[in-house]
Amino acid sequence: MATNRRDFIKKAVMALAAIPVLSSLDASAEETNTQRDMKKIMIIDGGPRKNMNTAAMLEKFAEGARSAGAEATIVRLYDLDYKGCRSCMICKIKGKATNVCKFKDALTPVLDEIAQADGLVLGSPIYFGDVTGQMRTFLERLAFPWLSYNDYSMTAPKKMPVVLIETMNGLPERNNSQGYGSMEYCIEAALGKPERLVAYNTYQVKNYDNFELAGFSEPAKRQWRDEHWEQDLQKAFDAGKRMAEKN
Ligand SMILES: Cc1cc2nc3c(=O)[nH]c(=O)nc-3n(C[C@H](O)[C@H](O)[C@H](O)COP(=O)(O)O)c2cc1C
Repeated sequence: MATNRRDFIKKAVMALAAIPVLSSLDASAEETNTQRDMKKIMIIDGGPRKNMNTAAMLEKFAEGARSAGAEATIVRLYDLDYKGCRSCMICKIKGKATNVCKFKDALTPVLDEIAQADGLVLGSPIYFGDVTGQMRTFLERLAFPWLSYNDYSMTAPKKMPVVLIETMNGLPERNNSQGYGSMEYCIEAALGKPERLVAYNTYQVKNYDNFELAGFSEPAKRQWRDEHWEQDLQKAFDAGKRMAEKN
């Protein structure tokens, strides 16, 4: 009898205790589903200036993506303390090879999030014909774990749409940009063919009168900006929206 009573009380307590647990599980399942339905887009800013051309293009891209219901996260590489690939070879250890860099620093959570994202955007000003050092350094950490030295294949954790954004002084018909250079091949092999968006002949400073920039014609720059900048931003917005809407 005493055992029966104890069993009854035990069952009743367990049943009562289960109610809030079950309802919170339901709620978190719902939340997870909503989060899963929402596209997650990672936007990597490889430029140092927070309010200038590259940042504005990336902000517009994010706006476009959010307008179509995606979650867009902008990561500013210049705010993070990290280094390039250290050739530690941990990603290639026999039997434990991994396609996400395991070196622990400020880039670790960013690389982990990219591995699970639904889209990736890389943005950089062109410096001496290339992406910035900060972007290049980031790309070493992103892409080296993709590369198999067994068969030279490039395998990311997940294929996803990629947009590469560049801003530069050069013109469409005259520029020295190698853009993402050899990294573009790695990105294409691992993630899929990227789309490329370029803002040419950008306005490099807010007031040309204050700087030794006589090699540029300020009126010509201003005219180009007036004729192209809004369109460049619109292209970034549209690309963001498209990425968010992609199946
Ligand atoms: C260090 C440095 C190197 C640059 N090299 C180039 C270059 O090789 N080709 C070019 O077209 N523009 C070059 N630029 C101009 C920038 O690419 C251009 O102004 C860009 O839009 C700046 O981006 P931001 O406004 O986001 O900083 C250079 C600028 C700097 C500061």
